[in-house]
Parts: sequence; C-alpha cells; structure tokens
Amino acid sequence: MTGARDNQTNSRDPHEVSRIGVVLVAAGRGERLGAGKPKAFVELGGRTLVEHCISTVTSLPAGGHLVIVVPEQLADETLREVAGATAPGGNWEISVTPGGRERHESVKFGVDALPEYVDVALVHDAARPLTPATLFERVAAEVRRTGNAVIPALPVVDTLKRVGDDSIVHETVDRAPLVAVQTPQGFPRELLAAAHDRLGTGSLGGAASQPTDDAEVVQRAGGTVRTVPGEALAHKLTSPGDLTLLEALLAATNRDAR
Ligand code: C5P
Repeated sequence: MTGARDNQTNSRDPHEVSRIGVVLVAAGRGERLGAGKPKAFVELGGRTLVEHCISTVTSLPAGGHLVIVVPEQLADETLREVAGATAPGGNWEISVTPGGRERHESVKFGVDALPEYVDVALVHDAARPLTPATLFERVAAEVRRTGNAVIPALPVVDTLKRVGDDSIVHETVDRAPLVAVQTPQGFPRELLAAAHDRLGTGSLGGAASQPTDDAEVVQRAGGTVRTVPGEALAHKLTSPGDLTLLEALLAATNRDAR
C-alpha cells in the first residue's frame, strides 16, 4: 500500500503471541450525514469519532496493534489526534493507513497492515464512537473460545414489512430469527485475511452485491459466524438524527461516570 504512514508508539517483542489487532475503518465519505467532512472526523462532545474510538481501544488492558484506516488527505491529522486520544498507560502500537473506495477495500488495507503477532483481528466502524470497551472484550473472548467469526447482535424490535417500489406492503416478515448486527466484528486473523484476499481476487463468486460487513465476506468464504449480545451504545452514526441520539447517549454516559 503506497502512502502508508506508521506511528509506532511502543515497541513489542516479536516473539509474543496471542495479541489483538484492531482495524478501525474511518475512510468513508459519509455523504448521507452531509457534514461537509468525512463522517469519522465529525465531532461528538468536542472529540472526533476517531478520537473516541482510539480512547476506547487503547484502554483495553490486553494491548495489541490498532490500525486506523483514513482518507489519505487526513492521515497527518489522524496521527496528530493519536497522541491526545490514547489512553494513558496502555500497551498499544498504533499505525495509520489510507483507505479504499469501498469499505471492504479499507478493511483489507487495514488487515494487511496488521503485524504478524496478531492472532485475533477485530474490525470496527469509527461511525460507532460510543461502543464500550466491554464489547471489544466480549467479541475477542468468544473468537478465542470458539475459533469462529463473532459479531455483536441485537434483537429486532420493530415489526418488519416487505415493501415494493410502489410503497405497497407485500407481507410482514417474521422477525424472530432476525438480528441487527454491529461492530466490532472479531475473527481469527488468518480467516479474515484469507477471506478478504479471495474477495479481492474475485474468487468468492456467488452474490452480485458488495458485502456490507466482514462477517459476510468470511461466510462467503465458508467460515462459521456466531453472535454475542450487542450494545445499544454501539449505535452507528448515519444521518443527522443519529448525531442527536449519540449526543444524548454521551451525556448519559458521562453522568453515569460521575
Ligand atoms: O458508510 P458506512 O456508514 O456504512 O461506513 C461504515 C464505516 O466504514 C465507517 O466508519 C466508514 O468510515 C468506513 N468506511 C471506510 N472506507 C470506505 C467506506 C466506509 O473506511 N470506503
């Protein structure tokens, strides 16, 4: 990957094993938000979404390597944010890498930038800035326990309808087996890397549409994907209304912490 910039904040024993790698994807344009800047660099409570995520990830006691995947023109700004956002006393290496046109390309660039010692890879959307550290730990623990891909999931609470282009409802969909899926999504690193390599070479075949999450990439490659309970705080910023909701969630979180 050309233009990759690394900011090694800690050195690590290359013989150490069993370390987490987090790929923080923040290279989207965020057009649906209409903020005039990439979504991951929008501020929430005085800090960008990327800064919120850096703080959370670097607070994880296990330590590991965090790759932040950003639009190329924001790589230097991201490196400057790293120092201020990193949790004190952590054991994390951090690097910054330019992203791709599609989300799955950004993930692949991030996975390719992980050091060899990483055995569990977590992929997280910067668009979910309030995701608690406990969710990262829950997902990573289940990957280690099972050797499968693991995704956070919440039950669907609304009634679901299948609707035609003419706005006419065709049927009510049984919601019992359906879940809404979040990030971080966790994988044995080799499983994720191999699945993204196959997607990149076009050898996964099948579905015509682009995968919208990494679990789908791994599943298309034949991997097993299981769920753990998700978190309401992992809400994703997509439209301006989500920003209002996230501000309220942040205020409630800060109140609880006092
Ligand atoms: O656009 P969407 O909300 O689905 O993006 C989810 C996450 O993927 C965001 O954090 C966004 O920055 C990231 N992304 C990326 N590279 C892209 C597209 C999206 O890193 N080309």
